Amino acid sequence: MKLFILERLKKAIKAVKGLFRSVMASPKLTVRAAVALPYTVRGMQFGREATFTNGAQLADKNPVPPNEMAAYFESHQEGPGIWKWRHYFDIYQRHFNRFVGREVHVLEIGIYSGGSLLMWKEYFGENAKIYGVDIHESCRAFEDERTKVFIGDQADRSFWADVKKTAPFIDIVIDDGGHLPEQQLVTLEELLPHVRPGGVYFCEDIHHNFNDFAAYVQGLSDNLNEFHRWNVGSPLRAAHSTPSTF
Ligand SMILES: C[S@@+](CC[C@H](N)C(=O)[O-])C[C@H]1O[C@@H](n2cnc3c(N)ncnc32)[C@H](O)[C@@H]1O
Repeated sequence: MKLFILERLKKAIKAVKGLFRSVMASPKLTVRAAVALPYTVRGMQFGREATFTNGAQLADKNPVPPNEMAAYFESHQEGPGIWKWRHYFDIYQRHFNRFVGREVHVLEIGIYSGGSLLMWKEYFGENAKIYGVDIHESCRAFEDERTKVFIGDQADRSFWADVKKTAPFIDIVIDDGGHLPEQQLVTLEELLPHVRPGGVYFCEDIHHNFNDFAAYVQGLSDNLNEFHRWNVGSPLRAAHSTPSTF
């Protein structure tokens, strides 16, 4: 019980400190985020309580095509382990399939026993270049002719500066490393600008409600909705006033 109260207290202190940091960094954006909070909670509530009957019916009529990566995972019961949630395979298939057979540059953070690097190599085909990143020196053993291994801490910005010198661009990032929000944030800030247009950034294991990394991504994606602010005076704005049947 004492431990529980202590944990709660630590969380509350962390929240107050975070709020203070946000106010100091950007008072305007902090107020806007606070105003939006009840809508975030409302969305969470709806997501928990709603029944999506139509979606379920549609899924029955359109069976999902066979998933090669899931088949690879299920058929490799021995050898280097692969540590993935089963439901990720449909997501991988949806976003990665268009890169198969192409000269795609894939970077995964978190090598562990090396099984996932072998899976990416097989799935994307012989034109793919695979980069693996891990904090443990022993993972260097997984380097081969098509796989380059970098050893370092994903939360260290100077480490990424070195990686980017060797990997001139990346098409797909899979962050399956330490899973701490700060590690995920630094990695995204260092690698997202390095991803080629049309690429995919995939961060795994964003667990728990109000996860700090999820909150960060919500703020990042909010900029997409700032269309009216950065569109002022641009040709797109003029097009907006063209008579339309819509
Ligand atoms: C979940 S395992 C990776 C599993 C692998 N991707 C797979 O699917 O089989 C996580 C790995 O991240 C590495 N790791 C943990 N903290 C890290 C950090 N700060 N920087 C880089 N790698 C880290 C660990 O050493 C471990 O090998």
